[in-house]
Parts: sequence; structure tokens; C-alpha cells
Amino acid sequence: MPMLFYDVGMDPYFDTNKTSWNLRVQTHFDSKFYDVPGFLAGKTSLNIIEREGLPVVSGKQLLHLQCHFGLDSLSLARMGAQVTGVDISDQAIAKAQLLQQQTQLDAIFVCQDVYTFGKQSKQLYDIVYTSYGAICWLPDLNLWAQIIAKQLKTGGQFYMAEFHPILDLLAGYSYFHQQKPDISSEGTYTENCDGSEHQFAVWSHPISDVISALINAGLLIEKVEEFDYSPYNCFENMYERTKGEFCLKHKDQLAPMVYSVLATKPRT
Ligand SMILES: C[S@@+](CC[C@H](N)C(=O)[O-])C[C@H]1O[C@@H](n2cnc3c(N)ncnc32)[C@H](O)[C@@H]1O
Repeated sequence: MPMLFYDVGMDPYFDTNKTSWNLRVQTHFDSKFYDVPGFLAGKTSLNIIEREGLPVVSGKQLLHLQCHFGLDSLSLARMGAQVTGVDISDQAIAKAQLLQQQTQLDAIFVCQDVYTFGKQSKQLYDIVYTSYGAICWLPDLNLWAQIIAKQLKTGGQFYMAEFHPILDLLAGYSYFHQQKPDISSEGTYTENCDGSEHQFAVWSHPISDVISALINAGLLIEKVEEFDYSPYNCFENMYERTKGEFCLKHKDQLAPMVYSVLATKPRT
């Protein structure tokens, strides 16, 4: 299938998002939410959902898309993976590189948007990984899925854990994908947010769009799961059911909070 490349230079929203993500980085780095001192002391930043859902990473070349400042990437490197982390925010990548230097873990970090990385990278990976709060920044999921398929070795695997799109609807955004993004001014989700707001452009992606994009890109879907809790307390009106499981009720029923997908690039 010919790959149509997204012309990032033509998209005004990418600059807006990059600037706003850059402005969040130091706050996130200093937050209890991200707990950098805990990570440096040996704690993993990965949650049970992805620890149980990911394929074995030890000895594998792993691409982490939208890695933020690299805590998950470096946690995966600690588990024995050789990691490449990619993110659009140069401030986030600078912090990731700092943490890599401090820990000397097997990871490199690239500052690029996902689409440009996919256009330029020639390296193949055993695993492509992305998580929580990633795909809402991407306007074109078909192209995203094609990039994942292109970067995977034959037999390689893609794993994602992502917030459930029903949360978009509950927050007043569109559930279904629209070409034009929702634009909003938001503070950030870490506990040390000082109240300042930045402008973001986000795109909704129903689960059916995610699955269809991966299938259309030639990947074989192995497993899809939905979870009635989030490992992060980052939405309004959540309560902690048990330690580390944050739930939300809608009309007295548990809302789906997270979903995960495992897919393979088949040997043809
Ligand atoms: C919520 S964070 C993802 C956090 C992730 N769960 C982790 O491993 O830390 C979203 C990240 O996506 C990045 N981002 C937004 N748009 C992007 C794009 N078009 N290409 C690459 N990264 C992007 C942001 O800079 C930010 O670091």
C-alpha cells in the first residue's frame, strides 16, 4: 500500500501543541505524579496494565512513540530493551537525555513528530509501544498505523495502552473523529499545576478507528482489553477503588477508563 505522508509543515496545530507541551515539561519533571526521584531510586514508571500486556521486552529493540521525558522508555530499558524514544517536545527530549546520562540505560531519544520520524527512519524494531494520552495529538490514525507497521520487523509486535475515548465524550468533546481538532485551553494534570493554561489541539479517535487503522496497515490484532479503572488520577470526579485504581461512575455505573491493543506484523 503506498504511504501518504502527512505534511506537518502545513499543520498549524503541531506548533501549538509543541509549544504547550514544552511549557508543561518542567512542572511534570518536578511533580509527585511523575516521581522522578522514585524512578532514579529504581521504581518503574510502568503500570500493571502494560507490564502484563506487553510482550517480553528483554533483548528487544523497542520504539516508544510519544515518550514525553522518557520515564517509560527508561523503565523499559531497565527491563532489558534497547529503546528509541520519540517526542515532538524538545524540552521533554532534553530531560529524557539527561535521565539517560544519569542512569546510563540503553536508550536514545529523538526529537521529532511521529509523522516525520515515520517518514525518515529506516530502522526496524521488534516492538513499538505507545501509552496514555498519546493518540489524541495525532490527526491521522491511518498514517500512524502505517508508520507502526513500517517500523516493525516481520513478526514484531505493537502494544498500546490508552485512555478510553468515552472519556472524551464525558469531558464534552466529540466521541467520533472530526478532521478539525477540538481546541481548548488547559492547565496540566499533575498535582503541582500552578493554574496557568496553554492552548492545545486534540483529535478524538474511537476504538473502532484505532483497530481499523491497524488492520488496514496489515497488522494482526492479537488482543484488545478494556479496563474499568485508570492507573492515573487525572480526570474530574474519580475515586480510588484500591491503591492505584482510579474509577469514574456515570449514572452509577463504572465507566471504561483504559483500553489496550496488542498486534503483530504477520510473517507472510
Ligand atoms: C501524555 S504524554 C505521553 C506520556 C506517555 N504516557 C509517557 O510515556 O510518558 C503525550 C506526549 O505526546 C507528545 N506529542 C504530542 N504530539 C506529538 C506528535 N505529533 N509527535 C510526537 N510527539 C507528540 C507530547 O510532547 C507529549 O510528550
